Amino acid sequence: MSNNTDTVPESYPMNSGDGTNSYTENSYFQKAATNVVKAKIDDVIAEKLDVKKNSSTSESTFRLADLGCSVGPNTFLTMHSHTMQNIIDVVQHKYQSQGLASHMPEFQVFFNDHASNDFNTLFASLPQRRSYFATRVPGSFHDRLFPESSLHFVHSSYALQWLSKLLEELLNKNSAAWNKGRVHYASAPDEVAQAYTDQFAKDITTFLDCRAKELVVGGLMVLIMPGIPNGIHRSSAPTGMIFDFLGLCLIDMAKEGLISEAQVNTFNLPVYVASPKEMTQLVETNGCFNIERMETTQPRARVDGISGQALTKHLRAGMEGIISKHFGTKIIDELFDRFSKKQQESFNLLESKYNVGTQLFMVLKRI
Ligand SMILES: C[S@@+](CC[C@H](N)C(=O)[O-])C[C@H]1O[C@@H](n2cnc3c(N)ncnc32)[C@H](O)[C@@H]1O
Repeated sequence: MSNNTDTVPESYPMNSGDGTNSYTENSYFQKAATNVVKAKIDDVIAEKLDVKKNSSTSESTFRLADLGCSVGPNTFLTMHSHTMQNIIDVVQHKYQSQGLASHMPEFQVFFNDHASNDFNTLFASLPQRRSYFATRVPGSFHDRLFPESSLHFVHSSYALQWLSKLLEELLNKNSAAWNKGRVHYASAPDEVAQAYTDQFAKDITTFLDCRAKELVVGGLMVLIMPGIPNGIHRSSAPTGMIFDFLGLCLIDMAKEGLISEAQVNTFNLPVYVASPKEMTQLVETNGCFNIERMETTQPRARVDGISGQALTKHLRAGMEGIISKHFGTKIIDELFDRFSKKQQESFNLLESKYNVGTQLFMVLKRI
């Protein structure tokens, strides 16, 4: 069952279908995130998108991509009352208000995720009446996905925190970055955190290089991901605390012989929480984008009563795939029962961590 490889699997899809542990039924946090940024995205399109330029070209299709779309329903909340359909509505409105209604383009939305994503659930839920053509694009966004200068708008929510792999030194007993007894970097020594930071920088650099080729000049990119304000220690981010709890449960299970300690030592969650400062540096080094917005926001400000149970289910929906790939499926129920108890014991502390901004929101414009 165990899979002690030194690299992370290429993809780790969210739980598929619409059962009680599916991602579809358990993506409250992403939904909350979408709510908070809606108004911001509207403003950015109104202020920053140059429809005059688009209408003066012979191009008659406006192409949008949702990178790391998963299986919904946020993609569809996203689409209707939130991002994708909203983007199209706001763009259409802009054409009209600028007297360019006769140049109104047709719209095409590309839904991207790893090939192993449950695209069937996604496309089965597509409404028949929609104001765009829908296309699936399987593959990693750490690689080229679209032809040169073919996209006008890129959106990605809660996907860029997934690292493409982790550095081998995390598994090397002789390295200062050996992450013994933990599954994440939040409360680990600096060397471990640095290994994560280095991989994140590589991944974002590749991502920006690819998108710079694919976006038209003037095209906008809205990126939303877990974030940590500048100057706050990594162990203070709620995401880090949640992963620490998961690690503690795994260690307990190893002590009881349900899994081996070596299995825990060779498992690291490939998830990174970035600050505006480090993101800004990476974008500036790339040099192809203007930073229109870069801030941490508080996604839970408008969501009431997210229970501990919901948090457990949410985590399970997102992490079950990668955990069972490494430890096998048999331990999953036991692990998340333990996680549920552990986070209940410390729920107040966890809640208090959410007082800092936990979401990184940025808008980049291709120059
Ligand atoms: C937490 S889900 C977020 C889904 C959706 N955007 C939302 O906000 O609800 C993250 C998604 O990103 C996808 N993902 C992670 N790394 C990716 C990559 N390199 N290329 C494409 N998709 C990726 C995962 O497969 C997963 O479906």
